[in-house]
Amino acid sequence: MVDRIYQDATVQCPYPYYTELREGDPAHQVEGEDVYLITRHADCEAVLAAPETFSSKAGPGLRQHELMGTSPESADAGYRVVRTLLTNDPPSHTRFRRLVAKAFTARRIATLEPKIRAVTDELIDAFPSEGEIDFVRDFAQPLPLIVIADFLGVPRSDLDVFRKWSEDAAEVLGGTLTEERSRECHQSLQELLGYFDERAAERRLRPSDDFLGLLLEAHDSEQHPLTTEEMLAISYVTLVAGNETTVNLLSGLMLLLLRNPGQLARARADRSLVPAAVEEALRLEAPVQGFVRRATQNTEVAGVPVPKGARLLVVAGAANRDSEVFAEPDGFDLDRGNSRSHLSFGKGIHFCLGAALSRLEGTVALEHLFDRLEGIELDPAFTPQYADNAVLRSLRFLPVRIRKVPA
Ligand code: HEM
Repeated sequence: MVDRIYQDATVQCPYPYYTELREGDPAHQVEGEDVYLITRHADCEAVLAAPETFSSKAGPGLRQHELMGTSPESADAGYRVVRTLLTNDPPSHTRFRRLVAKAFTARRIATLEPKIRAVTDELIDAFPSEGEIDFVRDFAQPLPLIVIADFLGVPRSDLDVFRKWSEDAAEVLGGTLTEERSRECHQSLQELLGYFDERAAERRLRPSDDFLGLLLEAHDSEQHPLTTEEMLAISYVTLVAGNETTVNLLSGLMLLLLRNPGQLARARADRSLVPAAVEEALRLEAPVQGFVRRATQNTEVAGVPVPKGARLLVVAGAANRDSEVFAEPDGFDLDRGNSRSHLSFGKGIHFCLGAALSRLEGTVALEHLFDRLEGIELDPAFTPQYADNAVLRSLRFLPVRIRKVPA
């Protein structure tokens, strides 16, 4: 029997299942697997706050190890992806986090804003003045990809192949891969790492101030530089963590607004509400529904014994709708005072390094869309379809009718 977490009906709309679990089985053991679904907000926070008991050397995808046959972090031929951030524990994680955090300072993120505004406008320029677009294909996918390519220092001319590598990398996370697809994705990862290796070699000759350039200059307190292998792994993790997630945020945000026209009208009329709209979208449609941990000892969560070695899925998508924390949790409410208590960026030592960047992208996107489109409508018959992935909440397409403000 396949657990409901993997069933298509749950992937399409997991929230009723989450409610049942939160209320009656808050540390549910997945049918036939040594995996526990943690769904209450307080329990999720407790797990994330105890990395010594709940290790990150476990994921990041739910079925990644089983499906890939080999993890991308294994020592196969070719480039190895060593543990650096997402799938690492202290003290090694602490060293990498300190080094990499320098690339994500508020000042550096702020310098990206004009570029994000320009890219957003270019994408809207390409919309028809009136007609239908696929918001996912035409906006939500290209914006984060171009932003992260710029951030990492990938030139626009390489964007097409970079897109493919990035999509393949995301597919590995929690998706149901055939053996053949798994091999292709592995090959694709090798190409991506080879590509970063070449870009790093260029920067050794000609220093630059992009992400790769910064990593090359980074030294820890004992003056050890990062090895090439470590740099490549950090670049890969940043791409995987930062691209598809932000695509999901933008498409989820637009769908929620279109389904809540009263709130959409308010945010359009009062732009100071735009950040609240972004935060509610993060809460209600967590772009990453859950993150994996492994128990390092026999322990318990929500009164349920969890044996050493078991994996836990910290289900942010469920915690974000916990009525113990959020009043009327299923509603999209711009006046909610505590939307930011969501766990969509995680919590504690692995808290998302790109949170400020993706919040900025969401805010800029909405401001420009409101400025440039006088009409945005959803086909009332539209039924959302999400990719077959228990971890990433990826809307496949979002057809909307738009009308541009006349130039
Ligand atoms: C809406 C968009 C995003 C969401 C929902 C998101 C979500 C997350 C979550 C949940 C974690 C922690 C996972 C865990 O505890 O196991 C994380 C970590 C991380 N994120 Fe994001 N992320 C987003 C955007 C970005 C962007 C744009 C970047 C980079 C440009 C980025 C880079 C990272 C990195 C490097 C980590 C690892 C931090 C560590 O392990 O110390 N993320 N993200």
